[in-house]
Amino acid sequence: MGSDPRVLVTGAGGQVGRALRAHLPNAVYLDRAALDVCDPVAVRAAFGPGDVVVHAAAKTDVDGCERDPDAAFAANAEAAGHVAATGARVIALSTDYVFDGRSEAAYTEDAPVNPLSVYGRSKLEGERAVLARPRNLVVRTAWVYGDGRNFFRAVLAAERAGRALRVVDDQRGRPTAAADLARALAYLVSRDVSGVVHVTGAGEPCTWADLAELAVGHPVERISTEEFGAPAPRPRSSVLALDRARALGVPLADWADSVRRYLEGER
Ligand SMILES: NC(=O)c1ccc[n+]([C@@H]2O[C@H](COP(=O)([O-])OP(=O)(O)OC[C@H]3O[C@@H](n4cnc5c(N)ncnc54)[C@H](OP(=O)(O)O)[C@@H]3O)[C@@H](O)[C@H]2O)c1
Repeated sequence: MGSDPRVLVTGAGGQVGRALRAHLPNAVYLDRAALDVCDPVAVRAAFGPGDVVVHAAAKTDVDGCERDPDAAFAANAEAAGHVAATGARVIALSTDYVFDGRSEAAYTEDAPVNPLSVYGRSKLEGERAVLARPRNLVVRTAWVYGDGRNFFRAVLAAERAGRALRVVDDQRGRPTAAADLARALAYLVSRDVSGVVHVTGAGEPCTWADLAELAVGHPVERISTEEFGAPAPRPRSSVLALDRARALGVPLADWADSVRRYLEGER
C-alpha cells in the first residue's frame, strides 16, 4: 500500500487558498511569494507525478483582465498548462464566466461554453490545458466570498463610508462561501473524480442587489448592468447546475445560511 499523495495548493494567499487550511491541514500552501505559477521552471520544481495540486492561483480581477489580456492569459491559461505539464493530478478552479449567461436554465457541466470576457476566455483556455490530462478535474464555481476582496466587503465598506448603494439587479447567480467550496474541494481531493464539476452555494438564485440588501439590512437602488458600466461584460446568468456534485456526494451548503453566518462575522 502506498502512502497518501502529497497535496499542494497554489494561490494559497487567496480566498479559496485561505479557506482550504481548515479542511486540508496537511497540505503544502504555496502563495504567490512561494510559487509564481507563471514561472514554468519554478512550477516544475514544486511538484510532479504522484502529487495532487489544488490550483487556486488566478488573476481574478475581471476588469483588470479586460485591460491586460496578456497578463490574464499568462496567469489563467498558460500557468494552468505549466501546472498540468508536471504530471501531478490537478484539481483546478474555474468559473461561470466560461458561459455567456444567456441561458434560462442552470448551466450543466457539458453546456456549450461561450465566454464574453478576457477573464472568461483565459479561464476556459486554462480548463482545456488541465483537462488535456485524463485524471484531472476542473471545479467551476461562482460569486465566491471569504477572507479577501469580495462583493460583501465592498458593499459593507461603501455603507460604512456613507456612500449610496447602486447595485446590479439583472445578473442572477448563487453565492459561494470560500469555506463551503473548501469543504467540497477537500472531499474531491480524496476521490477519483475527473472532468468538470460545478460547485456553488445551493438554493434559489438571487441578484447582487438582493445580496447587498441582506448585507446592509435596507433597500438599495437597483440598477442594470449597463447603468453600472463595468469595463468587462458579465454573464446575465451565473447559475450553475449542481446535479453532478450532488450525484458524487459532494457536500453543498445552502447559500442563504452561509451568507448569514458570514455577515454575522463581518459586521
Ligand atoms: N472570486 C470569485 O468570485 C470566483 C468565481 C469563480 C471562480 N473563481 C476561481 O476560483 C479560484 C480562486 O479564487 P479566489 O476567490 O480565491 O481568488 P483570489 O482571492 O483572487 O485568489 C487568487 C490568488 O492567486 C494569486 N495569484 C495570482 N497570480 C498568481 C501567480 N502568477 N502565481 C501565484 N499566485 C498568483 C493571487 O495573488 P495576488 O493577490 O497577489 O494577485 C491570489 O492570492 C480562481 O481560479 C478563480 O478564477 C473565483
